[in-house]
Amino acid sequence: MHRVIAIDGPSGSGKSSVSRRVGRQLGFVHLDSGALYRILARACLRQGVNPQDDTAVEALAKSYHFDAQEQNGELVFLENGACVPDDELRTPEVNGCVSYVAKVPPARTIVTDFLRSLRERFDLITEGRDITTVVFPDTPARFYLTASAEARALRRQKEELEKGIATQTAEAVKASLLARDKIDSTRACAPLHKADGVIEIDSSNLTLEQVVDAVLNLLPTDWK
Ligand code: CDP
Repeated sequence: MHRVIAIDGPSGSGKSSVSRRVGRQLGFVHLDSGALYRILARACLRQGVNPQDDTAVEALAKSYHFDAQEQNGELVFLENGACVPDDELRTPEVNGCVSYVAKVPPARTIVTDFLRSLRERFDLITEGRDITTVVFPDTPARFYLTASAEARALRRQKEELEKGIATQTAEAVKASLLARDKIDSTRACAPLHKADGVIEIDSSNLTLEQVVDAVLNLLPTDWK
């Protein structure tokens, strides 16, 4: 079985940037688990499925075929053989409904099984909301990344502006992020929380390099 570095945390806590850097440094493939829930949310929007209708979300998830391939250290997701573009997964519309889709237990089971299957192919650094608690609780490298709501909203707004995805105000970005956090951390199935034994890193006052170094330093010695 391949090795896994697992990172959980709320939106904008820096999980993706940190995971990409650490993965590149160690040769572990980066897997953004949130993209899979975003793919299901995008499919709901495209097919006119109400993301708050659990039965309809379950049916959609069961009929969806997940597929991924590695490209330059990154897992990219394929739909009918073509890459799903990241900017289509990060629209305000997807942000607004992804946490409803992610609350549906059968949809979570399907995503979890697919994530676990990827460990059979690659050393992974993977991030999300339930990676340290449900998907890979057995790995010796588990981290919980956090930061103040203000820092997280500012980072996310900067990212969205840089990518040209959205031009929402800082307040609107913060409201959307906090709404998702609330659903993600209070849902019945696999809520976001820091489990015992998971190493917490508060990145509010740390640079990206400092967080990357902290993660690298805390890994099992023979992984570095
Ligand atoms: O990038 P950001 O941290 O804002 O979100 P994401 O990682 O792309 O995840 C989008 C949404 O998917 C989250 O708000 C959760 O509702 C859901 N998610 C989840 O439930 N479990 C995961 N392991 C990853 C994401």
